[in-house]
Amino acid sequence: MCTGASGGVVSSASDDEVGGFHARLREQLQKPEGARLTDMPELYGERLDYQGDHLLESTAPADPFALFDSWLADAFLAKEQGVLPEPTAMVVATCVDDQPSARTVLLKNVSDDGFTFFTNYNSRKGSELSRNRRVALHFGWYPLHRQVRAEGITQLVSRAESEAYFATRPRDSQLGAWASEQSSTIASLEELTNAYAEAERRFDGVAVPCPEDWGGYRVIPSTIEFWQGQPSRMHDRLVYRRAGLGWTRTRLAP
Ligand SMILES: Cc1cc2nc3c(=O)[nH]c(=O)nc-3n(C[C@H](O)[C@H](O)[C@H](O)COP(=O)(O)O)c2cc1C
Repeated sequence: MCTGASGGVVSSASDDEVGGFHARLREQLQKPEGARLTDMPELYGERLDYQGDHLLESTAPADPFALFDSWLADAFLAKEQGVLPEPTAMVVATCVDDQPSARTVLLKNVSDDGFTFFTNYNSRKGSELSRNRRVALHFGWYPLHRQVRAEGITQLVSRAESEAYFATRPRDSQLGAWASEQSSTIASLEELTNAYAEAERRFDGVAVPCPEDWGGYRVIPSTIEFWQGQPSRMHDRLVYRRAGLGWTRTRLAP
């Protein structure tokens, strides 16, 4: 739990718990407090040998969303086995004034239309998307030695869809959406804690509505690339490109 000066709960782990967690990780790496990872000569040698079933034109579906569905299902299986904690985590990259920026969001829907995520429309990503709708997505399913990349444009999802999803969120996440003007500068953790407490008071005993400036984006891809790691860095890469109502498919060198 992370508690501010006023004692209000902001997230789900205490400073001690978080500090303890990181201290234990450092202990496992046998690095003293304050030591830098770049002191480790092992970084040059840090790599895995990748492997997996080959991604073949003869067996891969003609529709990239069908392939995405089956890889997402594999990612959920890996979650069940405790090796892939967040199968729906994806990085979304935006670009304005020739400066790309990227951050992780959670995939909340995928259909033949595209990939949907939810956020604050006034956040940095929201303001960048209002200037340039082009994005890149990246799913890093590392324990499966797989990645998926997509490029395309974003559309706002309907207000009804945003409200419907918002209504399913845990109450503390709903309150958090009201408390946080995402990406704005704040003076202190206490300011955030106070804003959360204010949201709790404001909606005491009533359902928390979806803020006007909060909602979804759907990424409509024009390309989707599937990457399956293979031994000797001879990885499989199949890229699907939209062509009229269908898709073309090409193999890329790794
Ligand atoms: C695993 C993970 C999942 C996240 N999911 C979301 C999400 O679904 N929506 C969101 O707005 N931010 C999410 N975040 C936070 C974003 O990465 C980012 O910090 C935030 O959206 C502000 O980004 P911006 O300033 O570029 O707009 C997530 C972060 C992590 C690490």
